[in-house]
Amino acid sequence: PDFYAVIGNPIHHSKSPLIHKLFAQETRQDMQYEAILAPLDGFESTVRAFQQRGGMGMNVTLPFKLEAYALSTRLTDRANAAQAVNTLKFIGNNDILGDNTDGAGLMQDIEINQRVSIAGKNILLMGAGGAARGTIMPLLTLKPRLLAIANRTKEKAQVLQRQFSAHGNVLSGHYHDFSGESFDIIINATSASLHDELPSLPEGIFSKESLAYDMMYSQELTPFLRFAQQQGVIKLVDGIGMLVEQAAESFFLWRGIRPETKKVIEMLKNKGH
Ligand code: ATR
Repeated sequence: PDFYAVIGNPIHHSKSPLIHKLFAQETRQDMQYEAILAPLDGFESTVRAFQQRGGMGMNVTLPFKLEAYALSTRLTDRANAAQAVNTLKFIGNNDILGDNTDGAGLMQDIEINQRVSIAGKNILLMGAGGAARGTIMPLLTLKPRLLAIANRTKEKAQVLQRQFSAHGNVLSGHYHDFSGESFDIIINATSASLHDELPSLPEGIFSKESLAYDMMYSQELTPFLRFAQQQGVIKLVDGIGMLVEQAAESFFLWRGIRPETKKVIEMLKNKGH
């Protein structure tokens, strides 16, 4: 078989091995996919050791996406825009192609799975860290009317606005700066849910028809999705679909075959994550 892996720290909770095993079965690819825990100060040596063992590619998760970006000898355009890499493809002994499939996975989940189109919409992006950055070019490529980037630390949102405003109508500010404005799609790209927290969102940003999308997932509704529900939002979506879709994009980069994602998403949902 051909060897692939996901690398991170921590990694034991990763669903990627299961997802890629299901993809491999479905597309009849002879491959193995494992989870590798790298020491916090040992990302590069762990990657090289895996490559030495015959590894052909890796998924990269927290906290190594920036190191993966730095390690790549070639980058796809979308990895370049995200300044972060979640997929490595080893090319010969000397080259590592770095890609970022997170944004494409999110777009696929919103537009295809949720059937919500981004063109012409008002979008609020919560957060200005790595996860948020990776979604900006993919979002702007689909021509929203407006992309507002809100962050607790306003300056970080302003930096992103400056960087991307040549590609669309981008605003930035604190959460309360968008008080009274209603958005069609609100995406939580902060890590607040990890600590069971929620950025302080102003009243009025949701309408009944809004899509509230949390890039995180957990068995229960996340704090963000619970808040949106209290505000009357019906379309509440967590990051499981995005997780499976970004995996499918990585799989395609490695194997040249696009797996069917629908059944895999259903299966993960039914397992209660
Ligand atoms: P990631 O790569 O997951 O995006 P990150 O780069 O550390 O991680 O960014 C985390 C994001 O979550 C930031 O936008 C952060 O806001 P700040 O830039 O102000 O730090 C946001 N965040 C994390 N915890 C938060 C909380 N409790 N309330 C509001 N925002 C929070």
